[in-house]
Amino acid sequence: MQNITIAIDGFSSTGKSTLAKQLAKHLGYIYVDSGAMYRAVSFYALQNDIITGVVLNKEKLINALQDINLNFKFNSELGYSEIYLNGVNIEKEIRTMEVSGVVSIISSVKEVRQKLVYQQQKMGKAKGIVMDGRDIGTVVFPDAELKLFMTASAEIRAQRRYDELVLRGDNVSFSAVLNNVQERDFIDSNREDSPLIKADDAIEIDNSSLSMDVQFNKILELVNKTLESYK
Ligand code: DC
Repeated sequence: MQNITIAIDGFSSTGKSTLAKQLAKHLGYIYVDSGAMYRAVSFYALQNDIITGVVLNKEKLINALQDINLNFKFNSELGYSEIYLNGVNIEKEIRTMEVSGVVSIISSVKEVRQKLVYQQQKMGKAKGIVMDGRDIGTVVFPDAELKLFMTASAEIRAQRRYDELVLRGDNVSFSAVLNNVQERDFIDSNREDSPLIKADDAIEIDNSSLSMDVQFNKILELVNKTLESYK
């Protein structure tokens, strides 16, 4: 059977990466978390005083891009790939509120997007890939055979994110998480370059009240139908 490209876009904390991982595992496809790449650049920018508070030194960031080398390595214990920045695994470091607080600013920079989109397209050349993000069906893989667009209410998404952070031992308040979710929604949807929009041919899934199992089965049906049509 022919391999396809699956693009999953949508708002933050809509369960895109969980779904993408499940699908990739089921199909034996590569999974790429494009958000992790924007988070990794943000982490680098924080570490190197390229962004302080919310003040960005754009020129310094653009110059630094040549020193930022990102790659994914498959972790067989976890069953998915983890992100490395200049050879160092930073999978944990990129999931903090500090990184979440600046990532929308960093990902609004055109030169950052150009570099990462180029790398993402290279990873998807051979198809057999599930990638999640904000512009995968619109910019990175406009010809993807299956495009999904995930939504859920901001409160439900903030609750999911809050539970995740608390489980990790982070000391955060629900209102700070909700604020961050709403702020990122706004910046991601209103930025000039590649804003988060649903591709015309994407299928919208609102999972505010869908269990993971029900959602997965529903989407598997879509995947199988798509695979059938490309046989
Ligand atoms: O998927 P995530 O929440 O980890 O993504 C973090 C941020 O990265 C998100 O707020 C917007 C940005 N992003 C983007 O601009 N384009 C992508 N393809 C993926 C993420």
